[in-house]
Amino acid sequence: MDLKNAVALITGGSSGIGRAAAQVLTQAGARVAITGRDPERLAEAARSLGVVGIQADVANEADVLRTFREVAQKLGDLDVLINNAGIGVRKELIDMDRASFDAVFATNVTGVMLMSREAAKLFKERKRGNLINISSTASLRGAPNGTAYYASKFALRGMTECWRAELRKYNVRVFLINPSEVITGFARRAGFPQADNPSKLQSEDIAHMIKAVLEMNSRGFTPELSVFATNPVD
Ligand SMILES: NC(=O)c1ccc[n+]([C@@H]2O[C@H](COP(=O)([O-])OP(=O)(O)OC[C@H]3O[C@@H](n4cnc5c(N)ncnc54)[C@H](OP(=O)(O)O)[C@@H]3O)[C@@H](O)[C@H]2O)c1
Repeated sequence: MDLKNAVALITGGSSGIGRAAAQVLTQAGARVAITGRDPERLAEAARSLGVVGIQADVANEADVLRTFREVAQKLGDLDVLINNAGIGVRKELIDMDRASFDAVFATNVTGVMLMSREAAKLFKERKRGNLINISSTASLRGAPNGTAYYASKFALRGMTECWRAELRKYNVRVFLINPSEVITGFARRAGFPQADNPSKLQSEDIAHMIKAVLEMNSRGFTPELSVFATNPVD
């Protein structure tokens, strides 16, 4: 697809991978809206990127419906939805509390379903569209302390396969991108230990792949893509 003047909505665009994707797509000529919960972080990102900022929680259905109304009013017909917003929690099974588990699923699974449902209605009607789910290599195998986060990304991978099967006949491309460890604020917020060094992936590496899969001629698509650091050193 040609990104020039394409309308893209990125959830969780105020930080990390979503913010880098907003920058790369804007530079390619797309008209971009980003969402996030924290109003100050969102306003700062929207201002510095020159994109539309919509304060919204993907886990809140009223916020989701308002997000799509605002995108339609401010930017027009949606071409690309990037479900990027995600949170994690690092806890062993024996320490897992219901609230932490539910919060991860509310954002990473229910929130993605709500956003995608609204986008799919538009895409089906117009017989075109692009849906990118930012999952993780955590959707490919389990690990200690991963109960909530890894399971949420397995669920996201499963939903992605269902949506691809439902929407392909309407020319809708449904992509799954699985980044391995990326240096953002995510690990600190989720309680996963992270050593920062130049051998590890940066947000712009994932943004580069997002742009690449979108830019392929719309007659084809890459269903699933995993991105690893070549030789990460801890
Ligand atoms: N960093 C990694 O190592 C890594 C690896 C693989 C996959 N991923 C995935 O990549 C995606 C982005 O992660 P990141 O590393 O860029 O994280 P990040 O820097 O923490 O950014 C997360 C973004 O999502 C927003 N967000 C969180 N919950 C939200 C909600 N309920 N509704 C709306 N916005 C919400 C955050 O803003 P607010 O908090 O203000 O809402 C922020 O803008 C996530 O899905 C994550 O699982 C990350």
